[in-house]
Amino acid sequence: MAVIDSSIAPALALLQQGQAVAVPTETVYGLAADACDSEAVARIFAIKQRPAFNPLIAHYPSYAAISADVQTNPWADALAAAFWPGPLTLVLNKTPHCRLAANVTAGLTTAAVRMPRHPLLLQLLTAFGKPLAAPSANLSGRLSPTRASHVAQQLGEQLAYILDGGPCTIGLESTVVDLSGQQPALLREGGITRAQLEAVIGPLAAADGAIKSPGMLLRHYAPNCPLQVAANTPPPADAVLISFGSQPLPAGYQRVFNLSEKGDLAEAAANLFELLHQAEALNPSLIAVMPIPDEAIGAAIHDRLSRAIAGSLPQA
Ligand code: TXA
Ligand code: MG
Repeated sequence: MAVIDSSIAPALALLQQGQAVAVPTETVYGLAADACDSEAVARIFAIKQRPAFNPLIAHYPSYAAISADVQTNPWADALAAAFWPGPLTLVLNKTPHCRLAANVTAGLTTAAVRMPRHPLLLQLLTAFGKPLAAPSANLSGRLSPTRASHVAQQLGEQLAYILDGGPCTIGLESTVVDLSGQQPALLREGGITRAQLEAVIGPLAAADGAIKSPGMLLRHYAPNCPLQVAANTPPPADAVLISFGSQPLPAGYQRVFNLSEKGDLAEAAANLFELLHQAEALNPSLIAVMPIPDEAIGAAIHDRLSRAIAGSLPQA
């Protein structure tokens, strides 16, 4: 069973040996390994049971370090200045001397890069001196981890060490923006909103019909029981309800969790995966969710919930 601790030294030693280690970020916990070592990266795919065609994000301690591996451009300069370190990932064309192992980018000519904001991870990245590849530290398709204990539940048997940085402050994965083509495109909603991005670089295209972000195709973020929008029909007796704000609640749920009593969307984002983990742990036959405003970071909450609903098991 993995050791859970906030000391950086064991994490650094394991990474230097080519092992995978769980690390905190401000968004969700990541499963990190040396991004320049294809064997270390292969361990991430094996532990998560992640399909090899789905590329990983490379994490760096500075924009200068990033520009060694990908071709920056004026959009990247502006977004980096505005939002890094922070919950934003940029897809850029690789440089000819890019150090990233081919399996990080699943053979693509582009790479997804970001500079995270968590102080422990920034210290670890600086000490390691090379980029770390890190997808979210969950089994492929399942709920994302926002606490060290969530990582331990899904991956504890397979890992030696989980670097504990406390609960993630953002609680949803980074926003992914493709800057590798003629026009910037939003590939994944996340911690930085579309409006925040557009205020800096102007209008963003939506990801077009061609699947630009391979990971968006998959079953994602799903609890291990059916998840649906709360209906007016009476729920099964053991059903659990996830609410938001002070809206009137339907009757008949064994337990009600509230994402944010005061109706604060940032607080709801930070609580989303923790409350889904708590709901899942009750082994209900159904988790229902009340309406949440589709604005600001609510757009990212909607994205995660609609994928979780689509990917959750059908109601028995
Ligand atoms: O907040 C986050 O981004 C977290 C933390 C750990 O940093 N990481 C994360 O990684 O969410 P992951 O692997 O769960 O999601 C990465 C997303 C996937 O949808 C993947 O398909 C996309 O980024 N991606 C990676 N490389 C890409 C590329 N070259 N082009 C387009 N999409 C890419
Ligand atoms: Mg993920």
